[in-house]
Amino acid sequence: MRILIITLSLGIVIFLVLAGLYIRESDHGDGHLTRMVNGGNPQQGRGAIIRHGCGSCHVIAGVGKASGRVGPKLLEIEHQVYLGGVVPNTPDGMIQWVREPRGFSPETAMPDLGVSEQEARDIAAYLYEN
Ligand code: HEC
Repeated sequence: MRILIITLSLGIVIFLVLAGLYIRESDHGDGHLTRMVNGGNPQQGRGAIIRHGCGSCHVIAGVGKASGRVGPKLLEIEHQVYLGGVVPNTPDGMIQWVREPRGFSPETAMPDLGVSEQEARDIAAYLYEN
C-alpha cells in the first residue's frame, strides 16, 4: 500500500514538472518564445514606452524613434536569461527592473523613471511580443 502511494505521488510530481516545462516553453510555432504577462496590454505598453522616452537609450522594435544606444537593444528580449545581468528574466523580474533598475544595480546608467506598476506590466507585455 505504502509503495503504491509513493509511486502515485512521484507520478503526480513528474507530471506537474513536465506540464510546467511545457507551458513555460510553449511557443507560437515559429520559434518565438512568449512570456505571458498577466494583465499587460502591449498596445498601452507601446504608448508608455514612448511617454517615458525609453527609446532615447534603447533600440525597440516597432517604436519608430527608439534608436538609442546608451543601453542594450531590447530585441527578442524574451530569449534572454537575465535582465541587466542581475534579474532573472520573468514577467515579474521585467516589471520590477523597468520600475526600479537602481534597486538592483545602484550604479546602472538606467534611471528609475517613475513607471507605474500597470505601465510596467504593459511595457513588459509589449517587449515580450516584439
Ligand atoms: C538613460 C538611458 C536609459 C533609459 C531612459 C532607459 N534605459 Fe533601460 N537600460 C539602460 C541601460 C544603460 C541598461 C543596461 C543596464 C545594466 O546592464 O546595468 C538598460 C537595461 C534595460 C533592460 C534590460 C536589458 C538587458 O538586455 O538586460 C530593460 C528591459 C530596459 N532597460 C527597459 C527599459 C524601459 C522599458 C525603459 C523606459 C521605461 C528604459 N529601459 C529606459 C538605459 C536606459
